[in-house]
This record gives sequence, structure tokens and C-alpha cells, in this order.
Amino acid sequence: MKIAVIGTGYVGLVTGVALSEIGNRVTCIDVDPSKVEKLSNGIPTIYEPGLEELIRKNLESGNLSFTAKHQEGLSDAEVVYIAVGTPQRPDGAANLDYVEQAARDIAANITRNVIVVIKSTVPVGTNFHIKDLINKNTKNGIQIKIASNPEFLREGSAVKDTFHGDRIVIGTEDEQTADILAELNQPFGAPIVTTDISSAEMIKYSSNAFLATKISFINEIANLCEAMGANVEEVAKGMGLDHRIGPDFLKAGIGYGGSCFPKDTNALVQLAGNANHDFNLLKSVIEVNNHQQVLLLNKIESRFGSIQGKRVAVLGLAFKPNTDDLRESPAFVMIPKLCAMGADVIAYDPIAVSNAKRQLGTDIDYTEDLHEALNNADFAIIITDWPSVKNADLAIFNTLMKEPVVFDGRNCYALDKVKQATLEYYSIGRPDQAPELIG
Ligand code: UDX
Repeated sequence: MKIAVIGTGYVGLVTGVALSEIGNRVTCIDVDPSKVEKLSNGIPTIYEPGLEELIRKNLESGNLSFTAKHQEGLSDAEVVYIAVGTPQRPDGAANLDYVEQAARDIAANITRNVIVVIKSTVPVGTNFHIKDLINKNTKNGIQIKIASNPEFLREGSAVKDTFHGDRIVIGTEDEQTADILAELNQPFGAPIVTTDISSAEMIKYSSNAFLATKISFINEIANLCEAMGANVEEVAKGMGLDHRIGPDFLKAGIGYGGSCFPKDTNALVQLAGNANHDFNLLKSVIEVNNHQQVLLLNKIESRFGSIQGKRVAVLGLAFKPNTDDLRESPAFVMIPKLCAMGADVIAYDPIAVSNAKRQLGTDIDYTEDLHEALNNADFAIIITDWPSVKNADLAIFNTLMKEPVVFDGRNCYALDKVKQATLEYYSIGRPDQAPELIG
């Protein structure tokens, strides 16, 4: 099929490339000409394992192209995907300005009846609003069909997730549109759920809210484990074997971040409020997460008292490994607080340093070398469970740091290994390895 994808951010780029890989002719449209130029030359604008190869392959075969001109991509498209951002407004609601602009661009440029598929995460009801907006603005009586096709990709494994997804959700108003989109998506090999539009929109929010709930739940259990002398990893293992619970998303840590969970949970609370429903459970999930992001600071304070002038190695800036995405990363909560407490911060990340410099400025030091970060540090805080950190030889903490004091927000190391390496070690929901316990 001839497909246009509006927006070459995370979702749009992966969607466009994947649709070209299964044999469609895809034009990806973005208003930013510098992005278009890079992508047209086969240079990915995001870090995502496996994506560069697919971009290059499909550019070469002619299945994939990029343009900054809407007319070029839209004039002969049969299906148009909207995959622009829906950032969070200050009140927590989703900002639909970009989606609405995409709708106007579609109306101005299509030359036949098309199916418009909304990939962006939008509040329930938005699909109908966008359909009306397009249909009111088209020329020559052209009328579009609308579909909701939410995205469940995880950053860092988006290519793998696309070709080995758990499900594809397609919400439409009529069976014919559902059949066309089901056939288009069939090569991805995942079970296809066809449903009505509002339910499709709701599936996306509910899935993310549920996963965020699982994380906040295990984080609360972790905090209880600390108070009761239990080990949250043992607890999660014992819980996860019950197939009704499942083992995934039960990893306690410094809280969830990223471009989806924080934004989508806030948006669902907001949506619920608009419908006069007080979503107390989800409000608590958000509150637990906010609290979780600063818990380690309490442990640092009770260990050191003042950290004025202390050299702190912050290990990891990205919100999770295998991405250079910093959105809602706990590092951005932690680092300003450490600076305000007078610490001298050096931040390590294997790939996100240049992104971070733009946002955090040059008041702190940065490095892509783990050893340099640890060198002469008074203590270290693990924010991201990068493989380089997880698989590090624990002896480096002893040999490089002033004192091997580690606050681990991701439970990277087995407690027996930590003991062997004689680290002073504080993690999440597991017994501390405090000075009086060492040796
Ligand atoms: C998420 C959803 O998984 C995906 O389906 C949706 O489309 C977008 O949002 P992503 O943001 O890429 O994907 O990250 P994910 O791997 O889900 O992790 C989100 C956050 O939760 C990370 O900060 C991660 O560290 C944290 N997390 C995850 C935990 O703290 N514990 C866990 O057990 C799992």
C-alpha cells in the first residue's frame, strides 16, 4: 500500500520503517528539514538497536523515503498515520496541537478518500474530533475513515517489539476499515484485536497505567521489605511465579520514567477527572513514583549528614538502558537535588551525555568512561542499569573510589557479590550492607 506517516519521532520513525520493511511504499513526513536530511541519508535521529540497518535497506529498495513537504507524502497516500507528539500540558492533560496541525495538513493535501490512523497516544474521544476536523477541511467532498492503532513499543527494543509484539490493537467505526488495516498489519505476526475506537484509545492508557501500577506496587513492597528485613527480589520471584501475577514489571527500583508512563498516567487521571471520576488508585501510583525517585537521597543523608563538597559519581542518565532518552529520567530529579546539597557531581552515561549537557548545563562534570566517573568519588549512585554498570567488576569501586560507598537505585548486584567485594552498599528493598556489617 502507499502509506504516509506524519512525524518522525520515536513512534513515527519506527512505524514508517517497519511498514516499509513488510513491503509497503512509505513516505515519512516531518516539518524539521534537518531531520529529513539526516534520515534521507540513512542516519537515524534516535538511538534504537537495529533501526539503522532497516532504514538503509528500505531507502535503497525505494520502499522508504523522507520529506518535509506534506504534499509530497500525502497526495497519493491510501493510508495516513499520525504519529506526532502529544506532550504533557502543565495541568497533566495531553497537548493536541501537533495532532490537530497534522489533521489540517492531511485535509489540505489528500486527493482521495484515505484511512487516517492515529498512532499518537490521545485522550479518549480524540479520534472522532480529528475525523471531524479533517472532514470539515477537505476539498472536493473527500471524506476520510478514522482508526485508532495505539503503540506499545518499548524504547531500546522497538524493532524487536514491532516484529514480535504481543498484540496489535485496531479501533475503527466500520468493518471494512478494520479488515484493510488487519490485512496491512498481518505480516507483523501478532494477534490482532479489532474493536471500537474509544476502547482502542482506552486500551493504550489502561495498559500503561496498569504497568505503572505494577512498578509502584512492587516499590511500595520494597519499602516495606526494608522495614521488615525481607528481600524484595525474593518476594517478587515468589509472587511472579503465580501466572495470574506474572514475573514482569516487578523489578523494584528508583521509579519509572520515560516518555510514556509519567505522561500517560497523568493524562488518565486528568481524563477521569473530566468524567467526574476520581482515579484515586492511579493518583497514588504517581505519588509513590515521585517519592521513590528521591528515596535514595534520604539514605544518603542519613549515611553522610552533609554532602557539601563531596564528589558524587552518578551512574546513568538515561531513563533506562539502551536508549539516550532522558525524558522523565530519575537522574533529572536527583542531580539538581545533589547540586543543591553542595555535592560535586560527575555523571556517567555511555550514550546520553551530549543530550544531557544540553538540558543540565555545564555545572556538573560528564563522562562516558565509568572508571573516570568513579575515580576519587566519595560515593556513587546507580540510576540506570546499563550493562557496563551491571557487569562491572566490583573491585573497581574499591580500587578507584575514596571509599566504596554505593547507593544502587536498580539493584544491579547480588548481595553475596557485594559482600565479597566489601562494598558499603544500599539498594532498594534489600538488606543494607552497612559499614558495621562489612568484614
Ligand atoms: C513503555 C511501555 O512498556 C510501552 O508499552 C509503551 O508503548 C511506552 O511506555 P518504555 O517507556 O520504552 O515503554 O519503557 P519500559 O521498558 O516499559 O520502562 C519504563 C520505566 O519503568 C523505566 O524507567 C524502567 O526502568 C521502569 N521499570 C520497568 C521499573 O522500574 N521496573 C520494572 O519492573 C520495569
